[in-house]
Amino acid sequence: MTDAIVAEGVRKRYGDKAALDGFGLTVARGAVHGVLGPNGAGKTTAVRVMTTLLRADGGRVEVAGHDVRRDPGAVRRRIGLLGQHAALDEELSGRQNLEMFGRLYHLGARRSGTRADALLARFGLADTGRKAVKAYSGGMRRRLDLAASLITDPEVLFLDEPTTGLDPRGRAEVWDAVRSLVGDGTTVLLTTQYLEEADQLADRISVVDRGRVVADGTPDDLKAELGGDRIDVVVHDAAQLPRVAAMLTPDATVDADRRLVSSPVSDRMAALSALVQDLRTAGVEVEDVALRRPTLDEVFLHLTGGAQRTKEAAA
Ligand SMILES: Nc1ncnc2c1ncn2[C@@H]1O[C@H](COP(=O)(O)OP(=O)(O)OP(=O)(O)O)[C@@H](O)[C@H]1O
Ligand SMILES: [Mg+2]
Repeated sequence: MTDAIVAEGVRKRYGDKAALDGFGLTVARGAVHGVLGPNGAGKTTAVRVMTTLLRADGGRVEVAGHDVRRDPGAVRRRIGLLGQHAALDEELSGRQNLEMFGRLYHLGARRSGTRADALLARFGLADTGRKAVKAYSGGMRRRLDLAASLITDPEVLFLDEPTTGLDPRGRAEVWDAVRSLVGDGTTVLLTTQYLEEADQLADRISVVDRGRVVADGTPDDLKAELGGDRIDVVVHDAAQLPRVAAMLTPDATVDADRRLVSSPVSDRMAALSALVQDLRTAGVEVEDVALRRPTLDEVFLHLTGGAQRTKEAAA
């Protein structure tokens, strides 16, 4: 079976600015793939190329088995897209919006109506389906957007920042809606600036920075790439921090406000028992000692830190 999405060496310039600079990824059928990157990384540009809305300057993209350049029509018939900015009609009800999308895609009146009702029910909008969209909350709107992008029952669904601007509740509602797609075979590619979102929803993540993928893997792979486990020590007296840091690796970091020393460790159990021994010998009073995996935030900062610094220097 072929992959749902294959992109290789994709390039796109705007003037002398490279929005995509060798972008590539592979998404297996039925997977949820996260494309994670800061503002301006090239996420929307990549989605536009993969959904045939924008022609790349170079590289190759295949979606649902068809080349986006040679056979854009075949790709379009098999995909759905939830754009970063929605295209709902405020004055129409949720149901009318979905019916309108159905008619746009030539589903016919009857089929558009039944599909609209099924999608409203699926995303918890059955009760509000007859209200005008202008009365919807942010989370409801986004779920309606999602329903609209599914009107044709696409094989591959692209979601460009589906939860940006939503409050935590709206975000949780959209997450549930996306999760409900998993298992019925729909392949989902979603872009996000939120590490937590990628961690929650995606089987695999491509981290994008300045138009290229700088890391790719499962959330666990990415965390492991940062050097495996970490040990955190919270001391009672901040004056002891340098002493505790010296007991750990040269890569240990100190957070004085939280009275915390954090260090990567290779052999977790050996490191922990040696540390406990050292702390006891030195008589350091400790509030907490913990072994943990690095967070995705740490991975992200590690991978894109260079770019952030350059941006700050330019600002
Ligand atoms: N139509 C355009 N004309 C000129 N430059 C553009 C255009 N669209 C995007 N760019 C530039 O290309 C780069 C990538 O933009 P893109 O919108 O793909 O980033 P993004 O990752 O989607 O960002 P965000 O998280 O803010 O949505 C940015 O530097 C942006 O300014
Ligand atoms: Mg974008």
